[in-house]
Amino acid sequence: VVLKNLAGRDLVSIEDLSVSEIQTVFSVADYMKGITKRSSEFCEGKIMATLFYEPSTRTRLSHEVAITRLGGHAIGFANARKSSTSKGETIADTVRMADIYSDIIVIRHPREGAAMIAAEFANVPVINAGDGAHEHPTQALIALYTIQKKKGNVKDLKVGMLGDLKFGRTVHSLSQALANFGAKLILISPKGLEAPTYLIHKLKSKFGTDITQNHLISKAIKNLDVLYVTRIQRERFASEAEYLSFKGSYVVNQRLLRGAKEDMLIMHPLPRVNEIDYSVDKDRRAIYFEQAANSVPVRMAIVVLLLGSVERLPIKPHVEHKLPTRNQKIPKKTYKGGKCLNPRCVSLCEPYVEPEFYKIREDPPLFSCIYCEHEYTPEQLTW
Ligand code: NCD
Repeated sequence: VVLKNLAGRDLVSIEDLSVSEIQTVFSVADYMKGITKRSSEFCEGKIMATLFYEPSTRTRLSHEVAITRLGGHAIGFANARKSSTSKGETIADTVRMADIYSDIIVIRHPREGAAMIAAEFANVPVINAGDGAHEHPTQALIALYTIQKKKGNVKDLKVGMLGDLKFGRTVHSLSQALANFGAKLILISPKGLEAPTYLIHKLKSKFGTDITQNHLISKAIKNLDVLYVTRIQRERFASEAEYLSFKGSYVVNQRLLRGAKEDMLIMHPLPRVNEIDYSVDKDRRAIYFEQAANSVPVRMAIVVLLLGSVERLPIKPHVEHKLPTRNQKIPKKTYKGGKCLNPRCVSLCEPYVEPEFYKIREDPPLFSCIYCEHEYTPEQLTW
C-alpha cells in the first residue's frame, strides 16, 4: 500500500481496512512508538474535533494526545449535554459544524450507525470511536497490534473472547480483524449475551473463520493463546434488573488461570469492572495496561495516515492484497422502506435518515440494515 492510500478516508468499520492497510498502520505505529512522549510536526496546524456523546477515558484522551504529539490540536466535547445536542440538534448538523472547524472528526455515540451518518455529512475523515453496541475499529486495531507484537504472527492463534459478546462493540470489530488475519475464534459468553447473528454470519461467510461458541470459560481456557476479556455493557440493557441477572457471571482469577497456557495473553479493552480480579494484574500474562499504552502510537498512526501527512514518514509501504474496503466498495443495491427493529439503530432517531437495507441472501431472502447490520426476513420488515 502506498502510504497515501488512506488519505482522506474514514474509519467507520474495521471492514474499511484491508490486511495490508492494517499492516501499514502497524508499521507507522512502530515508528510512532518512539515519539509518543515528545512533540513532532507531522500534523502541524491540523485540528481534530472529538465529539463524544458517551463517557470515555482512554479513547478520547488518547486521540487528543495523538493529535497533540503530532503537532496539531484537539477541540470538542466530552459530554453531549453541554453541546447543542441538548437543544435538539441532529448528528448531521453537529457534524457539519465540526467539518467546518476541523480537519478530522472522532465521534462516539450511543446509536448504532451514528459514525456512518457522520462520515456521510463530513468531508474530512471520520473515525468511529464507538457507535452503540456496533463497532469500535480503532480499539480493535490496538488489540490486534498488541497481539502481533507479542506473538509474532496472528494466523492460527486460538483467541478466546469472553464476556458480553452481544453488546461489546470492541469484540465486534476485533473478531473481524482477527478473522481477516487467520485466527481461530472461541466465543465464550453467558447464555443470552452471545455475539449477534449478523456477526457470526459474516465471520463464517466472508472469512471462513473457524468459530467455536460456548458458555464455559473453565472448559475453553486450556487451549487458548489469547484471552480477550470484556465487561458486561451495563448501559446497553433495557433494564437494570436485566443487567443484574448477568452481573458477576464470569470472573478471571488466579484459580481459573491455573488451567491456562504459560504464555497465554490476558487482554481487556478496559474499563474493567469486576471481570478480572485485581490479583491477576501481577500475572506475567496480564498485558491489558500494555495494550492500553499502545493506544497512543496506534492512534497516532491512524490519524497521520487519514490526514495524509505522510511525506516525512520513514516507512516502507506494504504490498496490497486485493480486498475491497468500504471506501472502495462497489455500490451495492439497497432497499428503502420498512423499519429497523434494533432499538439502538440510528435510523430510528435521526429525522432525515431513511431505513435502508442490503439483501444479503437470496434464498431464503435475508436483509441487513445498512446502519447497524441487524438482519431481517422480509416478513419482519413488512415492506
Ligand atoms: C470500550 C468501549 O468503549 O467500547 N472501551 C474502550 O474504548 N477502551 C470497552 C468498554 O467500554 O467496555
